[in-house]
Amino acid sequence: MLGIVLRTLNNITSNLISARIFLPEFILLDTIVAISLSVFISDKSSLFTVIILIIIASLVLIYFIGSKRRKELEEIKGIINSIRTNKIADPNEIRLSKNLSGLQEVIKKMFEKTKGDIEYLQRLERIRTEFLANVSHELRTPIFAIQGYIETLLNGAINDNNVNINFLEKANNHTLNLNNLLNDLIDISMIESGEMKMSFRYFNINEYLKGIVQDLMPMAEEKNIKLIYHQVNDRLQLFGDKNKLRQALVNLIQNAIKYTETGQVEVFVEDEPKYARIIVKDSGFGIAEEDLSRIFERFYRVDKARSRAVGGTGLGLAIVKHIIEAHGSRIEVSSKVDIGSEFSFKLKK
Ligand SMILES: Nc1ncnc2c1ncn2[C@@H]1O[C@H](COP(=O)(O)OP(=O)(O)OP(=O)(O)O)[C@@H](O)[C@H]1O
Ligand SMILES: [Mg+2]
Repeated sequence: MLGIVLRTLNNITSNLISARIFLPEFILLDTIVAISLSVFISDKSSLFTVIILIIIASLVLIYFIGSKRRKELEEIKGIINSIRTNKIADPNEIRLSKNLSGLQEVIKKMFEKTKGDIEYLQRLERIRTEFLANVSHELRTPIFAIQGYIETLLNGAINDNNVNINFLEKANNHTLNLNNLLNDLIDISMIESGEMKMSFRYFNINEYLKGIVQDLMPMAEEKNIKLIYHQVNDRLQLFGDKNKLRQALVNLIQNAIKYTETGQVEVFVEDEPKYARIIVKDSGFGIAEEDLSRIFERFYRVDKARSRAVGGTGLGLAIVKHIIEAHGSRIEVSSKVDIGSEFSFKLKK
């Protein structure tokens, strides 16, 4: 019995406390009403009774407002607690009473945003771990190979003229691969940490592409692949960072040569009114549809064995993508297995 009384009293005080923010308004209202009534009611005792009744009515009203406000606050607190303790997995589980529907939508949006942010951070963390695993793996492979050749040579093969030069050449090739990998890693980390300084200016694209193609000619000739540059209007000037673009184009043309068995690699420019598109097209292995969206990821190689055999680590296109995007452009690719691939990007005129 005492318990019920105490609980009721507790409830009443909580409700009144919860409505106390409206107290000044009620006092003001009651005072105005009392003053107005005193003009009409001259009998003091009747006036006193009316005022007492008004105060009681106000208290009852305050009590109900407080009770409503308390329920709403409890409801909001409950939802926030459920979110905080991960009891809510889906935004549709966030449900508040009808008159709080506006707030319900705001909480839902906040929940979705936080959920998205957390998922993004988790994805970054996964990428970071994968990246470290890939780097360690890619470093270990050439180091183990070099170690193997040196040990074999030290164990006597150094005096075997049939293999010694060959082993030294192989070890040397692996040190070159290692060096390339480290350079690519430095590039990637510079680009991603925003330290890559760009230096944009207008340059003659025809001269520029001719030079790059000439430099890569020996690589194509070694594979008996025709490397063709289709000249463009000699007055065409494009806007970009020549050094960075060279790195991107060398990678694209080297890829085209590396991943082509027979046929040709063509480099050409499509001249449009406001921009020009630079295209590197090959008649090589091509890339399957399911791999196309992934080839720009760091360390992604379609055919690991083939790519490793030609000295690839899968960082090239990730760097190309960054460089082209730093030009406010986008690298595009279309490819068909056994027919060939075409990589292209636009540059401003
Ligand atoms: N022109 C192409 N034709 C067919 N496959 C290609 C072509 N260009 C790229 N690829 C595929 O995309 C993968 C990623 O290319 P990317 O240039 O990033 O790496 P890589 O050439 O293997 O190594 P590197 O870091 O030395 O450039 C390659 O391993 C290859 O499987
Ligand atoms: Mg490459």
